Amino acid sequence: MSPKLDIKNITQTYREAGHKLTALQDVNLTVQDGEFVTIIGPSGSGKTTLLEVIVGLQQPDKGTIAINDKVMQSRLGHVAYMPQDDALLPWRTVVDNVVLGPEVRGQNRREAVKRARELLPLFGLEGFDGAFPTQLSGGMRQRAAFLRTFMAGQDIILLDEPFGALDAQTRRDLHEWLLDIWQHFSYTILFVTHDVEEAIYLGDRVVVLSERPGTVKFELSVPFARPRLETVKRFSPEMMELEARLFEALRT
Ligand SMILES: Nc1ncnc2c1ncn2[C@@H]1O[C@H](COP(=O)(O)OP(=O)(O)O)[C@@H](O)[C@H]1O
Ligand SMILES: [Mg+2]
Repeated sequence: MSPKLDIKNITQTYREAGHKLTALQDVNLTVQDGEFVTIIGPSGSGKTTLLEVIVGLQQPDKGTIAINDKVMQSRLGHVAYMPQDDALLPWRTVVDNVVLGPEVRGQNRREAVKRARELLPLFGLEGFDGAFPTQLSGGMRQRAAFLRTFMAGQDIILLDEPFGALDAQTRRDLHEWLLDIWQHFSYTILFVTHDVEEAIYLGDRVVVLSERPGTVKFELSVPFARPRLETVKRFSPEMMELEARLFEALRT
């Protein structure tokens, strides 16, 4: 079977005030259709840069990205992306935030609102369509930001540390919720995190980036069946062994 996303030899350099900084060096990564891949790496290893290159916000100096077996020079609009600081606009209601993408693209607003309303229950936001972001809990705000991303209608979704700012319990709830959504829609997900436990719990596969310049230095297939129970996640010896291997990969 051909991969959903095929990233080959991506090198990316920033140029600023006359000097060059290589953020990514020969990154190779293949993601299968419907796979949930998590990416961890030290701060500054190019995780965000990699997502921006994949989504097409940056063009790489070198390398190719194929989607559904086709090398895509311009990828904007083909992949959904939720940036790390994807804040909701405080002056817009939940629904108005969620339909922002379709609105900006000049699509039919009424249809987008209808679709958003249909999806609200699945995103745990039923009855909150007219609420403003300040009236929502942190978890609800994050689910609204997810819905905005999912409204793009793409089946490849890139998420940059989406749970970084949440408390532990909300984070755990959203893990279960995101896995449900992923299975429900058969999305292909690339999920960046700096949390080793989260990377293992969510991923079919964990990819470790090296220190800058970032390159794939280690990959690990997660052997746990789904659904993954909370107990498997936290207390099993297998979990601890996987964590140890990832910490080792991050350190060396
Ligand atoms: N717009 C930019 N201009 C110059 N350097 C940048 C820019 N964005 C990121 N960098 C640098 O590229 C490296 C990788 O950054 P980033 O992709 O944000 O890493 P991560 O998300 O893993 O923390 C860092 O050294 C960062 O300082
Ligand atoms: Mg980042």
